[in-house]
Amino acid sequence: MRKLLALVVLAGGVTFAADGAAIFKSKGCASCHQPNADTVGPSLKKIAKAYAGKKDQLVKFLKGQAPAIVDPAKAAIMKAQLTTIKGLSDEELSALADFMLKHK
Ligand code: HEC
Repeated sequence: MRKLLALVVLAGGVTFAADGAAIFKSKGCASCHQPNADTVGPSLKKIAKAYAGKKDQLVKFLKGQAPAIVDPAKAAIMKAQLTTIKGLSDEELSALADFMLKHK
């Protein structure tokens, strides 16, 4: 019985705490963004540096409400990707931003 209860609590935790790393993977972001190397898109390290101390601005970018500051010349490629995260809640976008900002 006690085991069952622990399982229920655990499952609830997974459902409610947004996991930025998991979102990043499941939305396909990782196919263009590596942790340390620039590939199709800039590295997460570069993104984290550009947005250091500017999490609000990063969340705005993810919502399509702020311009690209990392590689504006390629902004059209990235803009097309924003549709994949359109339905995410503020909490999920915040977790996604936190995950990227950890790569400094
Ligand atoms: C098809 C390749 C591709 C995919 C998939 C992709 N990106 Fe990008 N991303 C780019 C390119 C190219 C840039 C550089 C242009 C720019 O800076 O906006 C970029 C830039 C960015 C930036 C920097 C924005 C800035 O201010 O310049 C962030 C943040 C970002 N991507 C997040 C994401 C997230 C989150 C996902 C998944 C939802 C994602 N990307 C998926 C190609 C991609």
